[in-house]
Amino acid sequence: MKKFFTILIAALFLVAAPAQAENSGVGLEDISAEKYNVHIEKFYATLPQAKGDYKSRVRPILIEGAMNTETEVLIHALKNPVAYRELNYLFVAGTYKNYPVVIVRTEIGMANAAASTALAIKKFNPIAVINQGTAGGHDSALKIGDIIIGEKSFDHTAFRSAYSAAGAGIDLTKQENIGTYAYDKASGKFQAYTEYFADPTLLKVAKKVAAANKNFNVVSGVIGTGNTWFECVDYINFLHEKYGSSCEEMETTCAAQICQNAGLPFIGIRVLSDNVTNDNRYVPEAAKVCQDFVLLVVEDYIRDVLKK
Ligand code: 5AD
Repeated sequence: MKKFFTILIAALFLVAAPAQAENSGVGLEDISAEKYNVHIEKFYATLPQAKGDYKSRVRPILIEGAMNTETEVLIHALKNPVAYRELNYLFVAGTYKNYPVVIVRTEIGMANAAASTALAIKKFNPIAVINQGTAGGHDSALKIGDIIIGEKSFDHTAFRSAYSAAGAGIDLTKQENIGTYAYDKASGKFQAYTEYFADPTLLKVAKKVAAANKNFNVVSGVIGTGNTWFECVDYINFLHEKYGSSCEEMETTCAAQICQNAGLPFIGIRVLSDNVTNDNRYVPEAAKVCQDFVLLVVEDYIRDVLKK
């Protein structure tokens, strides 16, 4: 009997799995580093290698992207790029509009985002940090290529569920956001943050750039982060309604958390590469739009805020 059920479940899985992949256009291989990241060794070899430690009279702006597709436009925009490597994360330092800028390829996911952000802060002493890249829509009004300026971000996996007894079923909507822990300067302690806010100056600059460049379709909203890729529209709608999430991705709030520890200005800016709520399939090339927009934000920030 037990064997029969095992076979039945396996058969159902085999039927359901390809159907699911087909529905969204996303397979596991699609989000793997192998397909969208050029092999680390090869990529590193194409860039001039740094000799010794990073030295800059002025503190650079740090821009982050998880994948090759999310960093290549930025790296190509740098003058005099040199590559650094730390724990196999790639950092490329150069100048943009005559101001020092460092790009880090964080790699995919929360731990990588946190680790590479911390390493970049120690190594390059940035003055401000922008995390950018692709995301999946939680708002059916948004389409692929639309940009979300993150007014705030949160970890949509940092939840405590409501108690329910064995056999009572699973209701993921009965849960509470318990936050993630970061340093609070006022109390001198690590405390739980249920959300991380964008630096007001970076936010103002990003909104100004959006208003001045109508070729980009930009909204401001909430970025949800987790090592998850949700395809369940009811659950996405729950996150959207309860927490106001505009989109989901895998890095922003972790970078924000580390910047909170370091007391650094931070903003997350994302472009939609997919939106299951309105059947928009995964288009990773949307990453270019985000980088183009971020470069305009950086240019304004250098000119108007850093006054260089
Ligand atoms: N869900 C989660 N992450 C997504 N990304 C793009 N779309 C989604 C989505 N729907 C981003 C993540 C990660 C990579 C898989 O692409 O931030 O880096």
